[in-house]
Amino acid sequence: MDSASWDERYGAEELVWSEGPNQFVAEVAGGLPPGRAVDLACGEGRNAIWLARQGWSVTGVDFSQVGLDKARRLAERAGVQVQWVHADLGAWEASEPQDLVVLSYLQLPAAAMADVVARGARALAAGGRLLLVGHARRNLAEGSGGPQDPARLYEPDDVVAWCAGLDVERAEHVLRQVGSDEEPRQAIDTLVVARKPA
Ligand SMILES: C[S@@+](CC[C@H](N)C(=O)[O-])C[C@H]1O[C@@H](n2cnc3c(N)ncnc32)[C@H](O)[C@@H]1O
Repeated sequence: MDSASWDERYGAEELVWSEGPNQFVAEVAGGLPPGRAVDLACGEGRNAIWLARQGWSVTGVDFSQVGLDKARRLAERAGVQVQWVHADLGAWEASEPQDLVVLSYLQLPAAAMADVVARGARALAAGGRLLLVGHARRNLAEGSGGPQDPARLYEPDDVVAWCAGLDVERAEHVLRQVGSDEEPRQAIDTLVVARKPA
């Protein structure tokens, strides 16, 4: 989807994603001391806003201005400050070293994902971490929901291959409950945490 399609999707009054953070972002980042973080492809800002509430100094980057406007309103309502940057990740570089780079459900073809992960890795301060969570290819056959184009799905090993120069701390499939309470189903995600050597 291009930025105009995302603008259209975010134009709806209601939230496209949840108001609270992704559970794996909260689990991993909740165990880290707050520092400087950037949320790449931040969308409506659920993870960036949550990080700011935990004391992180946060920048959210996305190419959807409508998504960023929504994120800004949500941050104001939450009483937190986040720097919102309108940029295409195909051309983005960090202006300051980051202690945490978050990539949450950015589903681009492999070459574009490799490029964004490399940009994220370059943005890290020594000892900083890249936290990537997204829809796994395994979800197509064994899980539920999510994008159906296998070219935009990735396995833990794919992401590890994109993390050149980083020490991989976690690379695994994780399960996320989706569906209703009456009919719970499980989605299979890929989670990778990788650290730039100190
Ligand atoms: C599935 S949403 C995930 C949003 C957010 N990370 C979350 O987990 O709630 C994917 C996001 O990627 C953004 N995006 C896709 N391609 C992009 C690009 N090349 N540059 C910047 N943002 C991009 C879209 O605008 C959208 O907000």
